[in-house]
Amino acid sequence: MVDFASVKGKVVIVTGASKGIGQAIATCYAQHGMKVVCANRNAEQGTKAVETIRNAGGEAVFCQTDCSSSEEIKALVAFAVEHYGRLDGIVNDAGIGMGGSPLHEYSIEDADKILDLNLKGVFAGMKYAAEAIFKSKAENGFIINVASIAGLMPQRGQSLYTATKFGVVGMTKSASLDYAPYNVTVNAICPGYTETPIFDGTPDQARQYFINDCPSGRMGQPEECAYLALFLASDMARYINGAAIPVDGALSAGAKNVSMWRHPEIME
Ligand SMILES: NC(=O)c1ccc[n+]([C@@H]2O[C@H](COP(=O)([O-])OP(=O)(O)OC[C@H]3O[C@@H](n4cnc5c(N)ncnc54)[C@H](O)[C@@H]3O)[C@@H](O)[C@H]2O)c1
Repeated sequence: MVDFASVKGKVVIVTGASKGIGQAIATCYAQHGMKVVCANRNAEQGTKAVETIRNAGGEAVFCQTDCSSSEEIKALVAFAVEHYGRLDGIVNDAGIGMGGSPLHEYSIEDADKILDLNLKGVFAGMKYAAEAIFKSKAENGFIINVASIAGLMPQRGQSLYTATKFGVVGMTKSASLDYAPYNVTVNAICPGYTETPIFDGTPDQARQYFINDCPSGRMGQPEECAYLALFLASDMARYINGAAIPVDGALSAGAKNVSMWRHPEIME
């Protein structure tokens, strides 16, 4: 039976909740009666995001967290459990992009920065949340990692970002094997080009390139990832486990090719 009400009252942590995809997920969860612990680094933005949720009648609390620090993530999970008395799930969304250069042009500092947040931060989020989910005796626990289509198909100029997102997809699948017997699901959402502040300052020409590159002819909206995150948190998705699901307008379905060359009117 279609039943989104099953998420009501569940306690969830969403990292990167002040902007973009994380904010859309936190908002959507609160709209459906979940208790949301919003975590990100910038206190002003995080507090504002939580205020917006509360003003709309939702339940949320902010916890300032630098997700590239495993100690701060440990403290975030402890805060969530202390504040709401339990934990049912986590969405590890906080991440940075890094692209546009061939591998040798990246520095060791670049590697440390992106690995610490996009990969180690997700590991710490999964580890401490899993412990808390088990201690809470959550009936239908869930872990959702926001990876990327870069975790499914490598793109030029993105060697470090791609490494982190392939790592997240791999960790998701491996952990799903660990936790499936205990009824905790572990899945990854893999957004394609999605209109978030990550693209602020992107020149129009580059934005048009992303639009043209996508078979659907447009960029995605953050809410389109949030709808999937809501479904994955619901009791309807208990048999979806270990999946890396693209939300990308067919971008990762395969390379565009000339198979339609007999129909030039649709090639453009
Ligand atoms: N937007 C896209 O096109 C796209 C595509 C594929 C994957 N993704 C992934 O989706 C996730 C969210 O991306 P977005 O586009 O919404 O980005 P965004 O820049 O709009 O938001 C990122 C969020 O993460 C938070 N954050 C950044 N560094 C942090 C840190 N060290 N500690 C805690 N919080 C931190 C920011 O405060 C913000 O809330 C990322 O993991 C990104 O890799 C985005």
